[in-house]
Amino acid sequence: MDIFDKCYKEGGYLGIFRVIKDKYWTRPLLSTQVGTEMEFNGKKMIMWSINNYLGLAGNEEIKKTSVATCEEFSASAPMGSRMLTGNTVEHESLEERLAGFVGKHSSILFNYGYLGVLGTLSAIVHRGDTIVIDKLSHASMIDGTFLAGGKFRFFKHNDMEDLDKQLTAAKNNSSGGILVVTEGVFGMRGDLAKLPAICDLKQKHGARLFVDDAHGCGVMGENGKGTAEHFGVTDRVDIYFSTFAKSFAAIGGFSAGDEEVIRYIRYNARTQIFAKSLPMIYVRTIEKTLDIIEQNPGLRKRLWEVAGKLQAGLRELGFSLGDTQSPVTPVYVPAEPQVAKKIVAYMRDEQRIFVSGVMYPVVPKTVILLRLIPTAAHTDEQIERTLQGFKNLRDEFKLQLDKVKI
Ligand SMILES: Cc1ncc(COP(=O)(O)O)c(C=O)c1O
Repeated sequence: MDIFDKCYKEGGYLGIFRVIKDKYWTRPLLSTQVGTEMEFNGKKMIMWSINNYLGLAGNEEIKKTSVATCEEFSASAPMGSRMLTGNTVEHESLEERLAGFVGKHSSILFNYGYLGVLGTLSAIVHRGDTIVIDKLSHASMIDGTFLAGGKFRFFKHNDMEDLDKQLTAAKNNSSGGILVVTEGVFGMRGDLAKLPAICDLKQKHGARLFVDDAHGCGVMGENGKGTAEHFGVTDRVDIYFSTFAKSFAAIGGFSAGDEEVIRYIRYNARTQIFAKSLPMIYVRTIEKTLDIIEQNPGLRKRLWEVAGKLQAGLRELGFSLGDTQSPVTPVYVPAEPQVAKKIVAYMRDEQRIFVSGVMYPVVPKTVILLRLIPTAAHTDEQIERTLQGFKNLRDEFKLQLDKVKI
């Protein structure tokens, strides 16, 4: 058999879309400038699918820093991995600032959030150790769990009784260490990990806790320091992780924790040891973005205002938003998967509202989830137009909104 055979046949992950050479459902071609209105398929539409929570993508002040850094260093610097020739004072000082921001002693930068999760989990967890992971965790945590090569157990989403059970089983089955792994804000449903209860359980079982707060950092908590701040458990989360791809509107990620733990990760995270270090453009840009996040709490306030208005309006129209407690706005629509495409197309082509559709197995087969990501940059007028669009959807498809079961 030719190992390439599979490449010429339908199949593989998202294979059906690959076969139809799709640019509509997957890999849609959008206009290049990020904004609350973007062009798709020749039409301008309100964009609700980009995790630009604080509206900082394209921010002029930040852009000036990026341009100046590029002029000074080009896009190349530094060259090499942090271990060899890619470390700079700027990288170290950004790590110190990020650690301070999220209330930890130290932090380590990664080139992508995905690589950060993989690197962190595989550095900490060895054969004989166990990861106990929330079933709805992002693919990076699932892949990191597999890469780590230890034992693993899933616990039912946000189910503390099951977590307790899985921790007990993990303890009984191995003398190694245990790491509980969860998202802070769940990116699809917008609900929050029950961090206080998780902290109690990890303490009871002598485990440690890793929280991927990709959707919470800059968004949750009084000072935007994330879901741990929101719950007042910053000191009890052992490793706090975030990407820069969302609120920070950049690229990269970081893990933060105690000095010795982060030092250990620094010398054992293969996704960073064997990769070129984060480019200087991003190091300086992220530092500037952090200044802006810290100095402008109004951005976070506006984000929550937009989310509040959008969510209240959708609920008023009868849509179920499940148990979101964050700006992530999942609209659960009762529809079989075959109708899902029609609904998404109706929203995009007729209503000029760009939303992403999420289907089984993330949600039950009888439901599709239209996920909206509010940002600080959306206007009240855009919210109004969006609500009108959803009202039209409800009426056009005669949606039986009281039939939603999630
Ligand atoms: C929860 C979570 N973790 C990690 C990642 C990966 O981050 P990045 O895009 O920086 O690789 C994402 C991005 O989608 C995410 O949502």
